[in-house]
Amino acid sequence: MIKIENMTLEDYEKIKDNLQKDFDDFWTHTILKSELENEMSKYIVAKENDNIVGFAGIIVLPDDIEITNIVTKKSERKKGIGKLLLEKIIEMSRETKKEFISLEVNEKNEIAINLYKKFNFEKVALRKKYYNGTDDAIIMTRKIM
Ligand SMILES: CC(C)(COP(=O)(O)OP(=O)(O)OC[C@H]1O[C@@H](n2cnc3c(N)ncnc32)[C@H](O)[C@@H]1OP(=O)(O)O)[C@@H](O)C(=O)NCCC(=O)NCCS
Repeated sequence: MIKIENMTLEDYEKIKDNLQKDFDDFWTHTILKSELENEMSKYIVAKENDNIVGFAGIIVLPDDIEITNIVTKKSERKKGIGKLLLEKIIEMSRETKKEFISLEVNEKNEIAINLYKKFNFEKVALRKKYYNGTDDAIIMTRKIM
């Protein structure tokens, strides 16, 4: 069974050396650590028998909430973990009393876009050539409610 918990520095220590290999290559572990230490950010982990199989985070800004990251361990994808993490993020967002939750996603990341659409996120804007000076970023938003 998958449990979702708040992410601790101890959790971070367990994944930091294999972050790129096991999860994804868009973040270095130093960025993740500074996010965990940022008072405005909240991070969660998905665990299966104490093994970390995914994590996700938000940053609470004055006007809205932004999803900074959501990632499932490569070997554990397509088992519903991304949906569990996103569900929990939306639940946490309700507690902040903000109105909107938004995120940026690479236009080519169809898998993530499908996941967000499933949770009623809508495309609201484009940031041209945002990733590596080539790919556009899509900004997606939904009302928290
Ligand atoms: C995006 C990501 C978190 C999804 O995680 P996951 O645990 O595999 O997702 P789930 O199994 O919960 O699937 C959720 C939905 O995503 C979509 N999806 C997942 N895998 C897919 C695939 N291979 N092709 C198309 N859509 C897919 C589907 O809509 C799926 O819902 P469904 O199973 O009801 O059809 C994962 O692919 C990942 O870690 N990607 C790399 C990091 C990343 O790009 N994060 C987003 C940054 S903005």
